[in-house]
Amino acid sequence: MIDYRRLRIALLGAGSVGSQVARLLLEHADELADRSGAALELAGIAVRDLDAPRDVELPRELLTTDAETLIVGSDIVIELMGGIEPAREYLLQALNSGADVVTGNKALLATHGAEIFDAADQVGASVSYEAAVAGAIPIIRPLRDSLAGDRVDRIVGIVNGTTNYILDRMDVEGAEMADILADAQRLGYAEADPTGDVEGHDAAQKAAILASLAFHTTVPLEAVHREGITGVTKQMMDAARHAGYVIKMVAVCERLTGRGEASDEAISVRVYPALIRREHPLASVHGVNNAVFVQAEAAGNLMFYGAGAGGVQTASAVLGDVVSAARRHIAGGAGVGESTRANLPTVDIGQVVTRYQITLEVDDRPGVLARVAGILSDGRVSIATVEQTLEQTPGQPGDDAAEAGSARLVIGTHKALEQDLSETVARLADDDVVERVVSVLRVEGD
Ligand code: NDP
Ligand code: HSE
Repeated sequence: MIDYRRLRIALLGAGSVGSQVARLLLEHADELADRSGAALELAGIAVRDLDAPRDVELPRELLTTDAETLIVGSDIVIELMGGIEPAREYLLQALNSGADVVTGNKALLATHGAEIFDAADQVGASVSYEAAVAGAIPIIRPLRDSLAGDRVDRIVGIVNGTTNYILDRMDVEGAEMADILADAQRLGYAEADPTGDVEGHDAAQKAAILASLAFHTTVPLEAVHREGITGVTKQMMDAARHAGYVIKMVAVCERLTGRGEASDEAISVRVYPALIRREHPLASVHGVNNAVFVQAEAAGNLMFYGAGAGGVQTASAVLGDVVSAARRHIAGGAGVGESTRANLPTVDIGQVVTRYQITLEVDDRPGVLARVAGILSDGRVSIATVEQTLEQTPGQPGDDAAEAGSARLVIGTHKALEQDLSETVARLADDDVVERVVSVLRVEGD
């Protein structure tokens, strides 16, 4: 039996993820010691309520409500409480005392990451956060270490399991969003208040973290353009399927050339529901799974796929970080800080260039198609495809448009500037021949 050096581990939080981390630390203590070169001694677990029901039965003597005292003298602090305060305060306390920290807290990193990384740099400690993006999927380390010698050009990811579950079931079963959301809550995928997921806040936090790593730039959360999925209807899903697409909530982190104000390069970071071609690997990401598609200059296309959430799955990512932190602690030397040397500007959504699909309800009479094409042409939006179908439901008698009948136009565009596109859609919406702009969706992953 090897007499390993002992490292004191403080765990903050014993919820879905924390309770599984505690279980694995205790059950696999010998193996983890062999892999990290140190005995990982779980000194205590901070919780809010000592008597709260837990997924895993944990030794009562390890539980405490005094996180501050637990942190004192710890070598590694694992934060799995979530939220901003007091998680931020505890992580700063841990770092200032020289402990390495491991966290899965994307909300905290996306809003206070710079402060936390600075504190780590001051003392040469490490901050590891593999669990913060896409649960069990290794994506932070690949971006930070494996691709450190390459240039990442673009990331398109499905990074929120709840919205993927909802959109996937809408696509596969033709169900309405409200019914599926209720199921997602019952199954524990979505929060009781699902706003963070369906409005894209969770995905935006993850996108900010991915873009910061990929482009060696601090990307504040405010710089991420965010749209949720609440506007996606069954009708839009059906239309997407008919056209060979599926609607997915995506996070896009993109390097742009020739569009920065002060430099030649800039970045765009955005989350929204978008059309993905059915042949694209991201189209076959089902249920609560996540996937991150990375395009790098030398490596080409890489895809990372797996469980984006779940207590035990996410615990795997946390423990990987704990083993690395323990190895660093044993080896000595400073932790590797975050690289922000590129400091690229972030462009506004209006400067993004992508393809779009515009669905309109229009009058079905001579000259309408030419009128619509003229408005698109004036707005510098080039048409790639057009499909017209006649609407089944006629309007009211006496209404000119209704007498003429209605048609549905689905227009696929070539790449266009978002600003041009949105001005053009506004002009279409105001025009007499257009009864209704049904939807405007971006096409990603080409
Ligand atoms: P839970 O809500 O299930 O658990 C939170 C835990 O933190 C609870 O044990 C709670 O104590 C404890 N806690 C909260 N506030 C305090 C406080 N002020 N002092 C002491 N303890 C406190 O969260 P999850 O396990 O789901 O998530 C943890 C982190 O991991 C979050 O940052 C989340 O974003 C991230 N994450 C979660 C994933 C998932 O699938 N769940 C996936 C990827 C990341 P008590 O039990 O007494 O209430
Ligand atoms: N609410 C998140 C999701 C949990 O649905 O993906 C994992 O971060």
